Amino acid sequence: RKRIVSGVQPTGSIHLGNYLGAIKNWIALQNSYETLFFIVDLHAITLPYETQQLAKATRDTAAIYLACGVDTSKASVFVQSHVRAHIELMWLLSSATPIGWLNRMIQFKEKSRKAGDENVGVALLTYPVLMASDILLYQSDFVPVGEDQKQHLELTRELAQRVNNLYGGRKWKKLGGRGGAIFKVPDPLIPPAGARIMSLTDGLSKMSKSAPSDQSRINLLDSKDAIANKIKRCKTDSYSGLEFDNPERPECNNLLSIYQLISGKTKEEVVQECLDMNWGIFKNLITDALIDHLHPIQVRYEEIISDPAYLDGVLAEGAARATEIADATLNNVYQAMGFLRR
Ligand code: TYM
Repeated sequence: RKRIVSGVQPTGSIHLGNYLGAIKNWIALQNSYETLFFIVDLHAITLPYETQQLAKATRDTAAIYLACGVDTSKASVFVQSHVRAHIELMWLLSSATPIGWLNRMIQFKEKSRKAGDENVGVALLTYPVLMASDILLYQSDFVPVGEDQKQHLELTRELAQRVNNLYGGRKWKKLGGRGGAIFKVPDPLIPPAGARIMSLTDGLSKMSKSAPSDQSRINLLDSKDAIANKIKRCKTDSYSGLEFDNPERPECNNLLSIYQLISGKTKEEVVQECLDMNWGIFKNLITDALIDHLHPIQVRYEEIISDPAYLDGVLAEGAARATEIADATLNNVYQAMGFLRR
């Protein structure tokens, strides 16, 4: 079976962008693929963070995966730092990563500009190498992510090919290895709709965990009142009627897309339904749809988070399964790179 991996950082609260761009799509994939979903806690320390919050946020994120429908009888769910191989492979991959590749990363440029020099650690730069190791360790075929991760996936692919060329094939065989490619070169899976959910207060910037205003995003665990309030106050425009894909109306396109995805309707159905609507009516409609969709997730989240032993069991089992796969890859890499094995 083809294999899929993906993950979310346990920073801030998980929002509708993370859900529609990533998590919701994982659920659909777990029936047809072998899936591993991790909580990338090691990535969450690349910017200043709250030590008192990290463990809790990691648990919360795991509980949200399950509440959204990740099925542990099919998928492995685990915490990145529980599988040591991620960090080990990262070091090995670092030696084959040109610094120029990392300097080019848009997310690095944006995040380092925002954070200010004092707060930019080396890990913020090398972050994509850790992400590549998350993916390559599992010989993944596909990685379902939102649009903003596309460049990191390209780097992962280039790095896999580079390492295969540098250390794979005949050279590896001479060292007693299997020969051939060390890593499978993975493909991103970016959904046709939902890959880039925008802020509620500015249709030109993406919805993000780090935006200072909480009004700019719907968090998966927001109360009914919070959802209603955020939609009430979200940015709209003064055109009449509602439409997709008008570049002059980014907020309108974004809200219609969100409505389409959470209501499960087709784009054509939404076009028909909302063509002549005014903002007041549409806001009620989308508010109800959001509440209907998120409420069952929130109920399941509460159940899961109030049973720590269950959650610990899921994470331990996931880490054990992941370690098995990851260690096999890691051993191959050490061998192909010529290390003395114990
Ligand atoms: P993170 O935690 O920023 O986001 C998690 C997932 O949510 C997607 N996403 C969005 N999708 C649509 N609209 C948005 N506004 C939006 N905001 C975020 C992201 O594309 C992502 O799929 N580096 C990654 C985590 C990571 C990872 C990995 C992912 C680490 N290792 C290996 C896949 C495979 C990140 O910071 O995602």
